[in-house]
Amino acid sequence: MNGRQLSAAAKIKAPRGTFDVLAEQSAARAVLEARARAILEGAGYERIETPAFEATELFARGVGASTDIVQKEMFSLDDGGGRSLTLRPEGTAPVCRAYVEHGMHKRKQPVKLWYLSSFFRHERAQAGRYRQFWQVGAEALGSEDPSVDAESICLLAALLEEMGVVSVRLRLSSLGSLAARQEYREQLQAHLRAHIDTLSEDVRARIEHNPLRAFDSEHSGTRQALQGAPLLRDFLSAEDAEHFADVRARLDAAGVAYEIDPTLVRGLDYYTRTVFELTSDALGAQSGVGGGGRYDGLVEQLGGPPTPGIGWAAGIERILLAGTPTPAAFAPVDLFVAYEPSSGGWEDLPVYAPVRAFTLLSEARAAGLTAQMELAGRSLKGQLGFADTLGARYVAILGGDDGAGEVTLKDMSGGSQETLAADAVVHAVLRGLRTL
Ligand code: HAM
Repeated sequence: MNGRQLSAAAKIKAPRGTFDVLAEQSAARAVLEARARAILEGAGYERIETPAFEATELFARGVGASTDIVQKEMFSLDDGGGRSLTLRPEGTAPVCRAYVEHGMHKRKQPVKLWYLSSFFRHERAQAGRYRQFWQVGAEALGSEDPSVDAESICLLAALLEEMGVVSVRLRLSSLGSLAARQEYREQLQAHLRAHIDTLSEDVRARIEHNPLRAFDSEHSGTRQALQGAPLLRDFLSAEDAEHFADVRARLDAAGVAYEIDPTLVRGLDYYTRTVFELTSDALGAQSGVGGGGRYDGLVEQLGGPPTPGIGWAAGIERILLAGTPTPAAFAPVDLFVAYEPSSGGWEDLPVYAPVRAFTLLSEARAAGLTAQMELAGRSLKGQLGFADTLGARYVAILGGDDGAGEVTLKDMSGGSQETLAADAVVHAVLRGLRTL
């Protein structure tokens, strides 16, 4: 392809619903990751990373065949051998798969794991809703102690607070055990069928497989029909009600504010007992910053021993959208190596200024300094201006091609400068930095 053909080619853009993480966002993400690590590892969570794709069966079984995620939001592909793989739409089922696969039930319980990874959902892209997005998540497996529920929620609240996410509402509910939910489902279905004429088409279509999603509807007829609908909280067993009261008592003790919302519906099927969602008014339509809950039957459903579990995930992009902007923290530059543009060539190799500059750069880095050198053929004045933009503390200026090996070392903070032998520069910078 010649140059003209190249310039005539259409530009290729990132696919819809995806984005590039550029320097500024990447600095903010690094701050978020560091804070998540400090909070979660401080509470005994260990980092886990699972593969970007899994057997489709994992999500069909784990997340639930009737959920929107499984029905229409998965990016699935054939592995070439007739097996279906899916780009992970969420992290809980993969973590439970890993828990079973690595026999983690034999470790001391609960096993607490956290992740920060990208996930994929074929959703209608809009501000705050993407097809590839990042989540930070935390899962605690192997204990049904209500303190684990409360701790999990407190850790998410702490992370959002540290990131300056404002106007956060925490909504809390209990879905009870699977048996209670089954009975409730039937009653709700009966109620919805009795009001079928006023329901939206969407809700009508879901009566059979996913009646609880009716509570998510904005449709006025549906909302009206739901006014007299049975509520799940009235179906909780005595143990479930007690568990929920215990969780609330701990949140009260920790001073975490919440609202009980008996209509809270999560879009995944694995939940039992405690469920919660945190929203921020600082976000638009996609106000959910994070959410989670208990999934006491999931590990068993994936072939493991009966194991309770609870966790949450929060959207990285949404935390950053709703939070206080974090200043971009650029790595400080200890030394910038500049050199006089040379008229010499490679024949003069031992004295050729760019090569001497490269030697000094390598020595500086080997000594643990952060260092950069001129890479764009700027004039000496241009190089000094660039070093200033980088905030370099020292600039070493290598002379022309006379091979004298002398270097001018400029202290950019005080303006002083000295002339040194090239092999004395690194030592001088180290000494200067120590006196800061
Ligand atoms: P989720 O509510 O589906 O839960 O997602 C958690 C968070 O991920 C949401 O609150 C939102 O911030 C972010 N998120 C979800 N979809 C998108 C998207 N398309 N674009 C941008 N951000 C998005 C789960 O994924 C569960 N696995 C949480 C969990 C962990 N439950 C128990 N353990």
